[in-house]
Formats: sequence, C-alpha cells, structure tokens
Amino acid sequence: MKPICLALLGLLFTAPAWSDDVTDADSVESLHVLMHKNPGCGCCDLWADHLRTFGFTVESIEDPRILSFKAERNIPGPLMSCHTAVIDGYFVEGHVPANDILKLLKEKPEHVTGIAVPGMPLGSPGMEHPRPQDFNTIALLSDGTAYVFESHKAGDDFSAEEDD
Ligand code: CU
Ligand code: CU
Repeated sequence: MKPICLALLGLLFTAPAWSDDVTDADSVESLHVLMHKNPGCGCCDLWADHLRTFGFTVESIEDPRILSFKAERNIPGPLMSCHTAVIDGYFVEGHVPANDILKLLKEKPEHVTGIAVPGMPLGSPGMEHPRPQDFNTIALLSDGTAYVFESHKAGDDFSAEEDD
C-alpha cells in the first residue's frame, strides 16, 4: 500500500523545522469531510478513522482521477500527499492532524485556501510507525504562497483527548 501511495507523490518535500505552540480542541461538533483517496491506499482510511475519533463524519470516495482533483484546487506538487479532503470549503491534503483542521476552522486565517501535510511523514495520523518523524502542516494562500501553519515533533500524540 505504501509504494502505491508514494509513487503518486512525485517528489518528497523536506519542510523546515521550527516550533510553534500546539492548540488543542475541546469542542467538536459533527463536521462533514469529503475525502478523495487513491484506490487501494490503506493509509487514507486510517486517517479517516483518526478524524472520526474527533467527531468528524467522513465520506470516502475512491478517485482514480485524484491528481486532477488536486489540480482543480490548485494544490501544488510539493504539497501533495495521498488523499485530498474538502472540509467547509477548505482542502485538507494528506495526513493532517485533526487538531490542525479544528484550528483552521476556528481561526479561518485570511486568504488561506487549505492546509497540507506534504508527502507521507512517518508518525503522522494514519501513518503510525515505530520511527516517527518531525513534520509540518503547511497553509496555502490564494496567491500561491505558503507558510508553516503548525509544527509537529516526532512522537507527538495526535489521539483525541478523552476528558469530559
Ligand atoms: Cu497516506
Ligand atoms: Cu491517504
């Protein structure tokens, strides 16, 4: 499953590492997510399960033309990953932690069209692995520029908090 996903990535992207503080979300209502995924790519389903544990409802579509779907949303090659989701008008590309999506929906930063975790970093949600990596979530602006939206350290816990 990994080779299929990786083959579609085209290029690997090494993001700069600088830190930012991490937001946690406590109020999650039922948010609808439409996910286009590569047929046969299992990590997409694991990411969908991650979102569901945060209360999102995820509709999954196997899309053999997923690269066109990404292109229609102006997602540049270096930001691409295996699956592309649409949430509240934003694109969410790849293995983005649910808390970053909640931060996006809460802050709605000006001119941001979506957020992405480029490539398939080990240890990101849906890519659980004994040797996790640092990775960044990148925000894309409508003028094509991008910035680091959130930084994640190897071994960060992305699971939903179970306090009530
Ligand atoms: Cu993946
Ligand atoms: Cu995927």
